[in-house]
Amino acid sequence: MSSTKASQYTVAKVLHWIAGAFIGFNLMSGWRIATFELNVKEILISIHSGVGIMVFTLMIVRWWWRKKNNLYTPPNWWKRWPIVLQWIFYPLLLVQPVLGFCVALYNDYDVKAFGFIDISSLADSNPVLRALFFDMHTWLAVALIFLVLTHGADRLKTLFT
Ligand code: HEM
Repeated sequence: MSSTKASQYTVAKVLHWIAGAFIGFNLMSGWRIATFELNVKEILISIHSGVGIMVFTLMIVRWWWRKKNNLYTPPNWWKRWPIVLQWIFYPLLLVQPVLGFCVALYNDYDVKAFGFIDISSLADSNPVLRALFFDMHTWLAVALIFLVLTHGADRLKTLFT
């Protein structure tokens, strides 16, 4: 492999681990937000929504980087489950922040991403739409946890075989 290609893969791996840390953080921290007092909840959700927006941005950057440099495309890559699994993550990790954004739009308490992007002020609070998007956001989180565990198990398997 040329040194340029090796550097492109290094950048892809760094982006992967940054995105992975943010995704893991949101997947683990989201569940208990509702159980806190309002003032704490508003701080936690500003972190959660900010991290989620960074996941969305990172996934676009990663997609662009892979396409631009033609990375992870061995012959017949679509027959290789680990690579197909990687590609399944991309659309899901773009949809999940969008669903989160929709929950935030109709939320019953303030959601200010990074503490200053006031998403909840963009629409009136709406319990029906909030519940609809919240359910989708929750179910996609469950699916993502399953896929992350599958991806992790698959990587571990290749380390030991
Ligand atoms: C990859 C990105 C994201 C992941 C993995 C994620 C994950 C989660 C999880 C696991 C929950 C808890 C669901 C439950 O309690 O049933 C949650 C709740 C929530 N998320 Fe996200 N989220 C992401 C991005 C976002 C973004 C970008 C926003 C807003 C812009 C957002 C807004 C919310 C809101 C408002 C809640 C409800 C909190 C509450 O219980 O009051 N999320 N998220």
